[in-house]
This record gives sequence, structure tokens and C-alpha cells, in this order.
Amino acid sequence: MKKLWGGRFSKQPEEWVDEFGASISFDQQLASQDIKGSLAHAKMLFQCKIIDESSYENIKNGLLSLQSEVEEGELTYSVKYEDIHLNLEKLLTDKIGPDGGKLHTARSRNDQVATDFHLYVKEETLLIIAHIEELQKSLLNLAEEHVETIIPGYTHLQRAQPVSFAHHLLAYFWMLDRDKGRLQDSLKRSDIMPLGAGALAGTTFDIDRNITMNELGFANKYLNSLDAVSDRDFAIECCSNASMIMMHLSRFCEELILWSSEEFGFIEISDSFTTGSSMMPQKKNPDMAELIRGKSGRVYGSLISLLTLMKGLPLAYNKDMQEDKEPVFDTVKTVKGCLSIMTGMMNEVKIHVDKMNKAVHQDFSNATELADYLAKKGIPFREAHELVGQMVLQCIQKGCYLLDVSLDEYQEWCPLVEHDLFDALSPKTAVERRNSEGGTGFEAVRQQIDAAQSKMAVSNN
Ligand code: ARG
Repeated sequence: MKKLWGGRFSKQPEEWVDEFGASISFDQQLASQDIKGSLAHAKMLFQCKIIDESSYENIKNGLLSLQSEVEEGELTYSVKYEDIHLNLEKLLTDKIGPDGGKLHTARSRNDQVATDFHLYVKEETLLIIAHIEELQKSLLNLAEEHVETIIPGYTHLQRAQPVSFAHHLLAYFWMLDRDKGRLQDSLKRSDIMPLGAGALAGTTFDIDRNITMNELGFANKYLNSLDAVSDRDFAIECCSNASMIMMHLSRFCEELILWSSEEFGFIEISDSFTTGSSMMPQKKNPDMAELIRGKSGRVYGSLISLLTLMKGLPLAYNKDMQEDKEPVFDTVKTVKGCLSIMTGMMNEVKIHVDKMNKAVHQDFSNATELADYLAKKGIPFREAHELVGQMVLQCIQKGCYLLDVSLDEYQEWCPLVEHDLFDALSPKTAVERRNSEGGTGFEAVRQQIDAAQSKMAVSNN
């Protein structure tokens, strides 16, 4: 079988070599972007009088019919034709005859593949943003229900100060919001059209890149043909943004896994997102959360693959760059899948408010309240800190908590203590009062929810 570029060659590569060089097994994912790009290119060639009307009509109709065959999953590709670009050109020519050969006028596979890939990354970025918003909505709903649910807040994974459960959930809302911002910003750099760069140096044909740019809905076009065909920053940025999302999801999953353990017992993940053990009948394993945590590894891996792939490449196109697609395809699929699972999991999670409440009553996370109480009575905070430290130690030795100490015992320890101390030491009061901006106080959290809701409303307009 003769290659589409076979003119210069006297010998054909063997099939196993073709197999090694081909990308059709994975770049067939770009079929509809490739057809879209070709339709725009053909229209431009016609409008610039580079091909005549009948050739254009012929090409257009052929491409449209290929497009419906792609949608129906009816096309079969061959490794003989290497990649999606040559396969589609071959299928087109088989369908419409020699006019098919005019489509590649003033175009190279180098600007073609870059264009397809930009279209793909742009489309997928918008889809990832939509997935993030679904998760944000779910978190926001849960937060609204749990402003006054209190959990221990941790530093070093040691109980630190009690916080509103909504506050904890909202921390993830804001991480996701920054992720969304990064994706939106990255669109500025994927929304640039490489088409018209040719193989590397532009073309002698009198093309009009504004026609293809408008036709394909790009906001801008590359102004340097070498840069146009060599740039993969947009693909790397997509993987980098996805890595940050995965890092956030992974941290969240780590917490869900801890919280659903017997030791914490704060939540129960729905049966739909857990699995049992083949041996131990009592088990309910948080598999999906663990998988999301685990899949962060492959997404980071893709980012590193791409950075390494590109670091030594001289300008302009090099075949190495065919290796750029699988990491991005895998990343996009993984991150969308993880966001959907996460949303489903949060929509169905059961919150054990009683366990959370019990936890905050069985620790020393109100020790700061006691120190603050003394400081408000005029004792320098450093001294108060020392005194409270001694009191905590005494309690540990006796096996009780700060709320179990009697007023008499407190007054003996420090005569400034009055009965109002007990209210100050309750976890609810401790949380309720922290209404500094961005704090965990109930009022502050309600304001935060309002801010989050306005943020969502703005992005949906
Ligand atoms: N399959 C190739 C890729 O993905 C398309 C571009 C090939 N260009 C070339 N001159 N060999 O990178």
C-alpha cells in the first residue's frame, strides 16, 4: 500500500515498524476536531480562490459525511495511514476522488495536529470547569446545612480548636474556586490558532488566517509560525491545572477516609461509593475515595512526562511530540471522572453530627478559650498560657477534661475565674464567637456562604 507521502521512498517500512510509528490507536479521539479544522481550512481555500467552488463543495460534503460516520462510530482506521490526519484524508479521497487531495494545500500535518489539539484542550477545559462547579454546588449545599455542626479542627493532626463543619467544607470550595480560575485563565493560551503556520515557515499561498480563526472560534492566532507548530505549553498547562485539582481532591479524600474510619466515625460514605471485602464480612471500604487519592499519581506523572518530553526539543516540530497526546487524554478523563465521583460521594454522604459533637466534648481543644478568658481578665496571655498548660496536665493526670473541673477548683487555681467560664469553655461558644473576617464563627461562616454563592452566580452568568 502506497503511503500518502510515499513519493520520495523506494522501500516501504515493515508492518511492525509502521505499528511503532503510528498514533491512530489514540489520536482517533481527535477525529471531530480534525474534521472541523479541515472544514474551516477548505472554506478558507475557496474564499481565497485557492480551490474552486466545485472542489470545495465536494470536499465539504465528503467531510460532513465523514463527520456523521465518526459520530455513528462507523469508521475504521488503519495503522498504514499512521494517524488520524492521514486516515481521514485517505477516507475522504476514497469517498470523493482526487479533490480530496486538494484539501492539504497550504497546510501541513504540523499545523493541523496543533490546531486539533488546541480545539480539544479548549473544549475539555470548559467541561472540567463545569465538573468543578457541580462539586462546588454540592459542597455549598452541605455547608448550608452544617454551619452549626462542630468538629475538632486539627493542626499536625492533633486536636487544635473546634470549628464549624461548614467552614471545613468551604475551605475546599475555595480551593476548587482557584482551580477554576486557573483553568479559565489558561483558556487565554489555548484559545490561539496555529493553523496557517504550515510545516514551520508559513506558506506561499495567499491564505487568510482570519477566516479560519473565526470559523473555528479561536480568539487569537499565533503570530510566529515556528512557535505555532512547536508550542505545547497549553497542553502542559492543562496537566498542571489538573494536577492541582487532583492534589486538592486527594487531600479531601484523605479526610473522608479518616472520617469514615471507626476511630473518627464522623461520616458514612454511601454504599454506592464503597465496596465490601471478599473475606471480612463487616468491611465497608472507601474505595472510590482511595482511588481518587491514588489517581493523583498518574496525573502528576502526565505533567512530568510532558515537561520532560518537551525540554530538549529543537524548533520546530519533532516526532517526539506525538507522545504529547496520551498523557493529556488520560489526564482529562481522570480528572473529570474524579470530580464526578467526588460530587456523587458528597451528595450522598451521611454526616454523624452526634459523633462530631461527642468528639469536641472529649478533648482539650477549648484550652485556648480558657487562656483567652484569663487574658480578658487582665492576666498577660503568656502567663495565662502557662497556667492553662498546667491545668491541662492536671486534668490528664486525673483523667478528665476542662469542663469537668469544678468552679471551686478553678477559683483555687486562679481567683479571677467566675461561673461564666463554663459557657466560655463550651465548644459551641468557642466556635460561635470567632467572627473575625474569614473565621469559623457562625456569623462569619454565613457571610462566607453568601460570598461563595455570589461567586457561583457570577460565574454562571
Ligand atoms: N501524528 C503526528 C503527531 O501526533 C502528526 C504530525 C506529524 N507530522 C509529521 N511531520 N510527521 O504529532
